[in-house]
Amino acid sequence: MTASRFTLDDRLPADYLTDALHTDVREGLRAAPRTLPPKWFYDKRGSDLFEQITRLPEYYPTRAEQEILGRRAAEIAALTRAATLVELGSGSSRKTRLLLDALTAGGTLRRYAPLDVSGAALSEAGEAICRDYPGLEVAATVADFEHDLALSDEPGPRLLAFLGSTIGNFDPDQRRAFYRTLSLALSSDDVLLLGADLVKDPETLVRAYDDAAGVTAEFNKNVLHVINRELGADFDPDAFDHVAVWNTEEERIEMRLRARRAQTVKIPDVDLSLDLAQGEDMRTEISCKFRRESLTAELKEGGFTVRHWWTDAAGRFALLMAVPS
Ligand code: AVJ
Repeated sequence: MTASRFTLDDRLPADYLTDALHTDVREGLRAAPRTLPPKWFYDKRGSDLFEQITRLPEYYPTRAEQEILGRRAAEIAALTRAATLVELGSGSSRKTRLLLDALTAGGTLRRYAPLDVSGAALSEAGEAICRDYPGLEVAATVADFEHDLALSDEPGPRLLAFLGSTIGNFDPDQRRAFYRTLSLALSSDDVLLLGADLVKDPETLVRAYDDAAGVTAEFNKNVLHVINRELGADFDPDAFDHVAVWNTEEERIEMRLRARRAQTVKIPDVDLSLDLAQGEDMRTEISCKFRRESLTAELKEGGFTVRHWWTDAAGRFALLMAVPS
């Protein structure tokens, strides 16, 4: 019974993730500065570590966003009257339940359509939501939302949620391209619900990405375990320090892995022998922080008009609703 309301559509071409990892590692680790995209943090262990991060006293974004959703979900349901909730990069779908509850109570919701690169995460979260929301269709899609949005046959109006300030992982060029693709994919009665972490004092920001218990350090180093396993590399995670710095010009946190000593790392599957100097950094994540005026302006340029802007009581995080212009 439950299974019949759950569908999983795998739209990733065969070898897509393997090919993408090869390319990202080959190009990113040869570049100056050396970089690795944050999407490779999230294998099973990395996803578990991220869940732990969301519960750390220093990591406020998840709680702040939850506070806003708790306070505004009914209003969002009334404003959108959505038939489909689409969620990009849904992960464990915990915050989503606040929206599902409100949209279900509002009586308009027919379908939940989570989209993620991890089929395993989608099955687990999707089955649980099927169980807890009788009558709701769950249509999950395995896709890379940077390249394939897969929205075409979802019933409207659609509420497209992109939560957690994952948008902060994109640099301004990537954000521009993303808004464009998204605004073209949405119809005039669809809305975008975007979570964005805000610029604040650097101490608070740095502590959120360099916690006392060292969970974020383990999360950061997990990308090395992933590359070792997937590409046959011989990274020694203990030979790196976790570093979180606030980049004042770009207004973003940068996570880096800093070589504790000079070392050579072999990555056989991409034919790479990597010589790292002592103190050399690999940048593993950018987490851009936002201001109301500039975020509203860049959305406008990307084809969206911001209609609502809500923050938590402490003003740390914003949830905004925008419509195609
Ligand atoms: C999931 C991208 C929103 O940037 O805050 C948390 C990931 N990295 N701690 C963020 C993350 C280190 C997180 N996002």
